[in-house]
Amino acid sequence: MKCNSHILFSLIVLYASLNTIPVASRYYKSESDSYVLACGASGAGTDSDGRNWQSDAKYINSLSSSTAATAQNQDSSLPSTIPYMTARIFSSESTYKFSVPKKGRLWVRLHFYPSTYSSLDPNTSYFSVTANTFTLLKNFSASITAHALTQAYIVREFSLIPADSGILNLTFTPFSNYNNAYAFVNGIEVIPMPDIYQPCSIGWFQRPNP
Ligand SMILES: *[C@@H]1O[C@H](CO)[C@@H](O)[C@H](O)[C@H]1NC(C)=O
Ligand SMILES: *[C@@H]1O[C@H](CO)[C@@H](O)[C@H](O)[C@H]1NC(C)=O
Ligand SMILES: *[C@@H]1O[C@H](CO)[C@@H](O)[C@H](O)[C@H]1NC(C)=O
Repeated sequence: MKCNSHILFSLIVLYASLNTIPVASRYYKSESDSYVLACGASGAGTDSDGRNWQSDAKYINSLSSSTAATAQNQDSSLPSTIPYMTARIFSSESTYKFSVPKKGRLWVRLHFYPSTYSSLDPNTSYFSVTANTFTLLKNFSASITAHALTQAYIVREFSLIPADSGILNLTFTPFSNYNNAYAFVNGIEVIPMPDIYQPCSIGWFQRPNP
């Protein structure tokens, strides 16, 4: 009897977990845990889907090595002017610092619109991006990648292991092999993933008491 009720409980937990998957697949835990940043934007704004984007300025460690810029032209295929029409340009290594939950994976999504900013040639932008000790992108050219994909903009997504320290450092470094290489980014999303499998596995694998 005790065993049956345990299995029933497990099934309820499993069912409840499965029910949360449609929510999880939209990558939201709660808006307040997430960072949705329009880089180089002077203030908050709403994209064409009605999502709210904040300015990235207060998360950068050294604003002096970066500039906010606006794209000189707007490709008609852009889904929304926010976050693509503004960018943060980095002339040297720069880090965003985010406080994140110590448990649970992090979903990081980077948006790039390789356009002409402040008369910089998009073809001279090569850079790397690291998340704490992990390299996400290396010698990355958003321009070459976009040309290869025949897309005006690129979205790169990463699922990161939990940051035990509660800090996520996201570092942009211009590639030193090229003169005047610069890094840029248009949008950054950092979204904690709900730990949907944990309650399920605890309920499922625990031996019932004799
Ligand atoms: C960048 O390079 C591509 C080819 O790879 C070329 O089509 C494009 O015109 C170049 N852009 C600029 C601004 O020079
Ligand atoms: C993040 O960067 C700071 C220095 O800016 C460093 O002290 C800290 O250890 C870094 N944290 C992680 C998790 O890499
Ligand atoms: C960087 O990427 C460019 C373009 O993909 C490539 O031509 C070049 O060899 C790469 N450089 C290094 C040092 O990896």
